[in-house]
Amino acid sequence: MRPQFHFSPQSGWINDPNGAIRVDGVYHLFYQANPHGLVHGPMHWGHATSTDLANWAEQPIALYPEASGQCFSGSAVLAGDGAVAPEFGAGDGVLLFYTAHRDGPPSIEDQAVAVADRGMTRFAKFAGNPVLPTPGPRDFRDPKVIWHEATQRWIMVVTHGQSIGFYSSPDALNWQFESEFAEGRHDPAPNPGPWECPDLFPMRVQGTGETAWILVVGLGRGHISGGSGTHYFVGDFDGHTFRNRNVADLELFMDWGRDYYAAQSFSGMAGEDPLAIAWMSNWMYANHTPSEGFRGSMNLPRRLQLAGGPEGLRLVQYVDPSAARQFPELAGGVPASAVYRLRHRWVAPAGGRLALALFGEADPVLVVERKGGDRYEVTMLRQAHPAIEVIRGYETHFSFEAVVDGAFDLDVFVDNGLVEIGCAGGRHWVSNLYFPTDPAGTVTITS
Ligand code: FRU
Repeated sequence: MRPQFHFSPQSGWINDPNGAIRVDGVYHLFYQANPHGLVHGPMHWGHATSTDLANWAEQPIALYPEASGQCFSGSAVLAGDGAVAPEFGAGDGVLLFYTAHRDGPPSIEDQAVAVADRGMTRFAKFAGNPVLPTPGPRDFRDPKVIWHEATQRWIMVVTHGQSIGFYSSPDALNWQFESEFAEGRHDPAPNPGPWECPDLFPMRVQGTGETAWILVVGLGRGHISGGSGTHYFVGDFDGHTFRNRNVADLELFMDWGRDYYAAQSFSGMAGEDPLAIAWMSNWMYANHTPSEGFRGSMNLPRRLQLAGGPEGLRLVQYVDPSAARQFPELAGGVPASAVYRLRHRWVAPAGGRLALALFGEADPVLVVERKGGDRYEVTMLRQAHPAIEVIRGYETHFSFEAVVDGAFDLDVFVDNGLVEIGCAGGRHWVSNLYFPTDPAGTVTITS
């Protein structure tokens, strides 16, 4: 079941993407890794590189856990993109921000830095860590750092329990608290999961000169389709405070699926459509998926655009063309292998219904129904699978509404059971893992 173009480790466990950055034309992807087991364990930062975002070369482990803590999620910036303290000795190198996590109870989390050379072959934890110590026993992790041009300071967004904290620094060493943001969906459980792996970046609104800011937030539990999922907010950021342009309870999702979590945008991409990558699993069952030798993979890297429409500003996403072109286009219903891309334009009659089935199975993975006018209902499905161990919360039957003017375009990427579907021209995405008996089985579209 190893995917071909979704990054997976040679062995061991992985979760979140970390330190995503492009330097000198090379994409560096770090990730949460337990190289010694197939479940979440002592966290290292694994490392892989690519020049085409589809073929990855695994590199030696970058950061190791030690007494000061495991190396939880974080981000990378090029020191030269802003002003950095001489104490780092960073030169033209890279700063990796990570969370030093010490298990409790209660567990303690600090923000720490490691310094790497520009080619990212040598990594040294900063002797003066932590740069942002714990405010007490609470979820305080996953620093994502960017250089904020307008105020000439670094900004760090970080998990603050069930909200996101904003910090600023003139030199990436001395950090001060700015504000906290907590609008949107909260896990209703009595012991709610934290908001994890935040991200923050500016985007140009398509066809205008206007800039809006995107705040990305991971919900470890309580995603609308079950378990973990990734939300975003559209707003404004002045270097101090993020202001949501929408009402507090409007929910926007980077992906409606069960398997798109801890998304992170690459740094080093100024002037291009932002590029985001996520972990293709879900904390509800991640430790229990069928596996042999390795467990976990990333989603395909997607480019983001921000477009206006009847509902307001929304992300439109497309798989990065250099990764997308690696997938052979499906011709006819019988795939030549378990790795393919299928594009389908559906001009729906009033009341029309389309069903997409994969893997030679009768049950569809996606059903789209035209409800009237430009309104569609999209349903994603995943059956409990009799041939594999029973996975907690794996079975899926979930619907959402899409508003589409014109044809309903589907862009389907299949990679050995990993399925990512762009709906309505990339306005909605659905990413789900499957464990089919025949990953190269027949594809059927019924409409
Ligand atoms: C998200 C997360 C992060 C944490 C990491 C630990 O999936 O829980 O908040 O830093 O995983 O591996």
